[in-house]
Amino acid sequence: MTKIKSNELVCLGIEGTAHTFGIGIVKDKEILSNAKDVYKPKHGSGIHPGEAAAHHKEVGEKVLEEALAAAGVSLSDLDILSYSAGPGLPPCLKATAEFVQELAEKTNKPPIPVNHCIAHIEIGRMLTKSKDPVIIYVSGGNTQIIGYASQRYRVFGETMDIAIGNALDTFIRETTGDYPGGPILENLAKAGKNYVELPYVVKGMDLSFSGIITAALNKYKQKEKLRITLEDICFSLQETTFAMLTEVTERALAHTGKSEVLLTGGVAANKRLTGMLDIMCKERGASFYVCPMEYAGDCGANIAWAGLLQYLADKNDEKPVEKADFKRNWRTDDVEVNWI
Ligand code: ATP
Ligand code: FE2
Repeated sequence: MTKIKSNELVCLGIEGTAHTFGIGIVKDKEILSNAKDVYKPKHGSGIHPGEAAAHHKEVGEKVLEEALAAAGVSLSDLDILSYSAGPGLPPCLKATAEFVQELAEKTNKPPIPVNHCIAHIEIGRMLTKSKDPVIIYVSGGNTQIIGYASQRYRVFGETMDIAIGNALDTFIRETTGDYPGGPILENLAKAGKNYVELPYVVKGMDLSFSGIITAALNKYKQKEKLRITLEDICFSLQETTFAMLTEVTERALAHTGKSEVLLTGGVAANKRLTGMLDIMCKERGASFYVCPMEYAGDCGANIAWAGLLQYLADKNDEKPVEKADFKRNWRTDDVEVNWI
């Protein structure tokens, strides 16, 4: 029998596009649990897709048990199953699709493929109660300035090469060997005193970070000669890259006439970035929202919430259990948004 009230429905969502394997359970707008286990690359190296996928397979059952126990539900209580089907690292996406497939067969629920980027947006909108924001989605794998128009989340601006989080992670890995770099860089930047000149690369509405990182690493190699410190470079990296993001966001606001900004993704944790965006929004009379940190990074709860929205819009309960698939380059603007 078709259930139509969202507040009766329990949805389990699985995230596994990159380093995080997460399972969240939602009942309407209530998040019942959000369990996760994060793969950490070896000291000095970046994320290894095969290792991350092996990690997801190893921790899958444990994370599932944690999510069910914390939510106080059993598999038979679930109405909907959803999973992150892309974009992401193919070995990780495959491991996630296989995991959800097994669960779909056990529960006889069709697995609903969710676009990872859309899930970041929708949990942010739900939790902050923002209605129609310009979204800045900044993470290890993505950097996009997005806004809703005519049944799609349109990408107004994005990185032309690497994502901002990846850029910051690369700089810190090359200079200290540590990971993830964002929080370390933010901390070091607090002690930075001198602004070191770095390229500022905005082309139209798009951004580029890889040249900036190369320039910053060159400055680091010459730091004694230039009489600058690692802290100075971290400070300058934040000032430059966050000013670029703020500029493009401001133009997206001006072009679209929207009056809200929503920041999400792991880099949303950075206080200098939120500070800059806050000032820009105040100057323009726009409202500024930041997705609560527990749900701004990769997690199962956001996949569960987006899965529930899609289920209600698509009547997925009438669909048979089909094979769970994935799309490595699934773009935000490829998804037809039929729930708004
Ligand atoms: P996606 O798959 O959406 O690209 P992700 O796999 O990178 O996401 P997230 O948890 O959304 O996962 O983001 C992680 C990124 O956030 C890392 O690059 C990390 O360095 C960055 N980050 C975390 N905290 C901070 C901070 N305080 N300042 C800057 N960057 C940060
Ligand atoms: Fe993410």
